[in-house]
Amino acid sequence: MTLQKQSLPRLCLGVWLLALSLGASASEEDRSALAQRNGCLACHAGMETKIGPSFREISGKYSGQEGGVELLAGRIVSGTGEHGSGWAKDGKATLASMPPNGNVSPENARKLAAWIIAAKGKVSGPQHFVSEKVRISGRVEQVFELSVAELRKFPPQQIGEIPVTCQSGANLGKIENLKGVLLRDILEEAKIVSRSHNDVKKIAIVASASDDYRVVFSWSEIFNSPLGDGIVVFYERNGLPLADDEGRIALISAKDTRTGPRHVKWLNGIEVRQIVD
Ligand code: HEC
Repeated sequence: MTLQKQSLPRLCLGVWLLALSLGASASEEDRSALAQRNGCLACHAGMETKIGPSFREISGKYSGQEGGVELLAGRIVSGTGEHGSGWAKDGKATLASMPPNGNVSPENARKLAAWIIAAKGKVSGPQHFVSEKVRISGRVEQVFELSVAELRKFPPQQIGEIPVTCQSGANLGKIENLKGVLLRDILEEAKIVSRSHNDVKKIAIVASASDDYRVVFSWSEIFNSPLGDGIVVFYERNGLPLADDEGRIALISAKDTRTGPRHVKWLNGIEVRQIVD
């Protein structure tokens, strides 16, 4: 393979701006989330040439071709190999071949291939993932949903400046002037159910988003560590409501060494679970 390591984009959640979707049906949403989750959108867009060809170009080339779905599914998993499929030669990609996407199962690769061929590059923006409410559920006395207006009733927390770094260590700039609510305050309102004194030490809190991104916190991190003072559900950035690319509700663990992984855009759920007996 001729590609250079440093020419690869950093696959990190913080940089995906576009989501693809065909329309409203559940399975199509699943698929655009699948493309989002698997990092495809770091190199592909619906209509424009990026590092890889646009999904519309790919669809134009393979729709109607017998065995097209199987062929592309195989290449999605294994990459397009040393010689590539020629997109860059035609000026429709900037990298000569696609590296393997080893994290994608054969089944998901087939779904993605079928979807790309059928979608013909029709794109909608990230508004597809915007969450207006976050639901607090699981082992709590009170299950409830909070909108931004309801979040504003909690004691506000301001966060000054946090550098955003991916799991890989790549620097993604800064998050500035966030306003939100401590996750701890929300959980205190919901009241975690613990039957015995030791229960809380085995409790995990799962934060999830509308694109199926999920991260986990332990009870101890939130309630018994300095990290807890930086775990914030936020709804404002520089005095403005959160834009479609992360809003309207998001979460960050501002005191993590690398803040990218536990920056949850489009937050829509907080679930309390006891994970060991
Ligand atoms: C590191 C960048 C990168 C990532 C990540 C990436 N691709 Fe690609 N993709 C490319 C490039 C570059 C090409 C053109 C390759 C060529 O001409 O051989 C390509 C080509 C393709 C093709 C056409 C293959 C062909 O033989 O014509 C499909 C389909 C495709 N990508 C789907 C996906 C899917 C689905 C994902 C996510 C699981 C994905 N890609 C992730 C860069 C990427």
